[in-house]
Amino acid sequence: MSFDRRDLLGRAAVLAGAALLPSAWTPALAQARLIQDPFTLGVASGEPSPRGMVLWTRLAPRPLQPDGGMGAAPVEVRWEVAEDPRLRRVVRSGAQLAVAEAGHSVHVEVAGLRPGREYWYRFRAGGHASPVGRTRTAPDTFADVKRLRLAYGSCQKYEAGYWGAYDHLVADDPDLVLFLGDYIYEQAGTDKGVRRHPDAEPVDLAGYRVRYGAYKSDPKLQAAHAAAPWMVIWDDHEVVNDYGGDQDRLNTDPARFLRRRAAAYQAYFEHMPLRRHRRPVGPDMLLYRTLDWGRLAQFQFLDTRQHRPHRTCDAQSDGKAIPDCPQRTDPSRSLLGGAQQRWLVERLETSQARWNVLAQQYLVGEIQRPRPDGRIYSNDGWSGYAQTRRRILETWRDAKVSNPVVLGGDIHCFIAGELELEAGKPIASEFVGGSISSLGASNADMQRLQAANPNLKFTEGEHRGYGRVDLTPDGCEVTFRAVESALVPQSPVRNLAKFQVEAGRPGLHIA
Ligand SMILES: [Fe+2]
Repeated sequence: MSFDRRDLLGRAAVLAGAALLPSAWTPALAQARLIQDPFTLGVASGEPSPRGMVLWTRLAPRPLQPDGGMGAAPVEVRWEVAEDPRLRRVVRSGAQLAVAEAGHSVHVEVAGLRPGREYWYRFRAGGHASPVGRTRTAPDTFADVKRLRLAYGSCQKYEAGYWGAYDHLVADDPDLVLFLGDYIYEQAGTDKGVRRHPDAEPVDLAGYRVRYGAYKSDPKLQAAHAAAPWMVIWDDHEVVNDYGGDQDRLNTDPARFLRRRAAAYQAYFEHMPLRRHRRPVGPDMLLYRTLDWGRLAQFQFLDTRQHRPHRTCDAQSDGKAIPDCPQRTDPSRSLLGGAQQRWLVERLETSQARWNVLAQQYLVGEIQRPRPDGRIYSNDGWSGYAQTRRRILETWRDAKVSNPVVLGGDIHCFIAGELELEAGKPIASEFVGGSISSLGASNADMQRLQAANPNLKFTEGEHRGYGRVDLTPDGCEVTFRAVESALVPQSPVRNLAKFQVEAGRPGLHIA
């Protein structure tokens, strides 16, 4: 229906560059049969709006090869969206060219759907059909939404564990899934884990594509993508551990590091259900954005990696630990970078939503880890850029932002805490959602951390899992869902803790 051959050919020329198209290329060639099933990486959807969403797949009959086993030729991928799981009532369909320059990924931006309802979708290419995915549109902009269930996760180191958490995430039937970073880990394969990274540490596009090929081959991850639309942001390991801006931990020459970042961002784009205008240009890719869920919620998604200045007080650091140096509170040094910080403040000041959910990579609250040498802060997260946190808290307070809540990841522990500018006066609550499989800290360590930081109300480091959030106009309920063990493929789940935030009353209650 929205298929237009001229558009298709025009897009191919734009995407691939006309000179790069094989001279013998024809639309007929793009429709050639593929011997092997190209849908080994599953399907995904994301970026729901009231009228549509993004549908994603990547053709890769051999996902552990850099080209996915696809060669250089473009291939036509047809798609359809239906109102029922058996795809009998198809309401939109079309075709897009998958080209080698984009790893034969497709990012279909569907429009013209109805707000606030479920849809099902499928792709076809080379004589094969993909699995069917379920997705949904966001509610109408001004809809009075009664409830939203979402699940959020982060940190799925493939070697560290199995992803049984996703079995339970799917069973929880969320309307929306947020992934808050560390979708892949870049480290070389070792024999120390329960399963092995397939190759050396990726530094170029071919390497990152293989790494995503391994991760996205996991059937539990595929099932979670096929169950609901995802909103994704990255953390450090999608490029390399602890990087920020143009700087890695090894202080690699920035020009060389940015080439690596460009490759990593390109591979990230190729494997995520993102809108096409997010496609990176060189080492730059704008990822911060908002999502509205009727009048009930606005989500502000942040990128705390790409735009930050160099590490705080690095000369005085020991590992990540730094003293309370002047750079830490220098307002010109923003964890978000100036443009993103101004954008966030403006979005917060103008939001009409009942709940304002800040979805980002870390624990935002000020954390001290007292050491005899006086180095008590980490220079890798918000505590290295305390002025950025202060600016957000002041905006929440001064603009009377309605019900701010923070979700985070990165540290592989479940943490619930309160954010405040004056002791005892919480402005927001935050919930760090554990990790899907990456290993965390011992509970003895977590209890020491909690004792030193009274803003933390709950900590648990020994279990893997995800967070579940149930939002209504009156309240926000957050449940930490923990699997018994991530060292086995299947594992039962239990509620580690449950928290309530009452609308209009900042601060959390442990249920
Ligand atoms: Fe992580």
